[in-house]
Amino acid sequence: MYWKLLALAAAAYAAPQGFGGGGRGGFSLLRFGCSQIVIERLDPLVNPGLNPSPHIHQIVGGNAFNASMPSSDISDLATCTTCSFADDFSNYWTANMYFKARNGSFHRVPQIPNRLLDGSKGGVTVYYTSPGAGKVTAFKPGFRMLFGDSMQREKKGSGMKTQSCFRCYTGPNFKGDNLSPCFDPKLDTETFPPGPCLGGIRSNIHFPTCWDGKNLDSPNHKDHVAYPKSGPASFATSGDCPDTHPVKIPQVMLEIVWDTTQFNDKSMWPEDGSQPFMLSTGDTTGYGQHADYVFGWKGDALQKAMDGGCFGPTCAGLKTQAFTAANKCQVPLSVAENYDGWLEKLPGDGSGA
Ligand SMILES: *[C@@H]1O[C@H](CO)[C@@H](O)[C@H](O)[C@H]1NC(C)=O
Ligand SMILES: *[C@@H]1O[C@H](CO)[C@@H](O)[C@H](O)[C@H]1NC(C)=O
Repeated sequence: MYWKLLALAAAAYAAPQGFGGGGRGGFSLLRFGCSQIVIERLDPLVNPGLNPSPHIHQIVGGNAFNASMPSSDISDLATCTTCSFADDFSNYWTANMYFKARNGSFHRVPQIPNRLLDGSKGGVTVYYTSPGAGKVTAFKPGFRMLFGDSMQREKKGSGMKTQSCFRCYTGPNFKGDNLSPCFDPKLDTETFPPGPCLGGIRSNIHFPTCWDGKNLDSPNHKDHVAYPKSGPASFATSGDCPDTHPVKIPQVMLEIVWDTTQFNDKSMWPEDGSQPFMLSTGDTTGYGQHADYVFGWKGDALQKAMDGGCFGPTCAGLKTQAFTAANKCQVPLSVAENYDGWLEKLPGDGSGA
């Protein structure tokens, strides 16, 4: 339902003002672009202070990103952000995608701006949803969490397809984008798509929606958050939180569009026809897809947006910036290594750790 609304509302995105909450029961859905701020082997959550960390990431958001990050309010440290919501100084990062050619060389897969987000540079489309005014508690300064396990290479239990999936676009211009993320029984898979995708591949990652109400982080960066009692849910659905994690938080979803089209020529694929794409960890399964989040919205901007029935890339009272301004925000590269062009090995040798 939400996905249909999003599609219907798409035409109205050009309008300068956000949508009111009126006809949708007050639910909020922010959808906005954050350009890449840097690509490098740093991971202040899993490997704080380690330079370089084991595998390469693409990072978006505020310029307080660093090899280690304090648990204070990073919106006070950052002076700019690559997100189009100018008050969002959070950092979001994911693995990059690489292609391994038949001759054994690797190439980073470029990214393209998502639908309706022309002008964003690489990066990530970020969603925050709330089922209604007063229904979620925004994150506190210092809050961080990790989704997924970079070392995972096989299906666990009944799988996590509703939380982490790849969509195989059937043609240019996001063809095949008809159903809610991770919900298409044919085009969405928990693993890398087995064959060439004519319009590229999209990653979707959904973070948990329940919090213990106390801890801003936990040793594995996961135990302080949880899924609803009904289990991992798909995009923009609600569910009661368990007693251990009673506080409902906004659902954060990340979406990345990988332009795999220049690598679709099967004569470049392995002789046995197996799919040649991998995460920067060397994971060719896709089960190791993961994402990190460090909260950094200024003041109560996110709470207001979640209570305000906001929809899309604007929201009454929230500052936005054009991508021409957002793209100027940068973090200086602190790991000296090449990650582009044809490479003999993955940066860091594709260590999954
Ligand atoms: C990152 O950390 C280093 C070392 O602590 C420091 O010199 C640098 O100023 C920091 N950069 C930012 C953007 O905070
Ligand atoms: C490997 O294959 C790619 C794609 O065909 C090509 O562009 C690249 O130059 C090759 N690398 C080497 C070392 O032969």
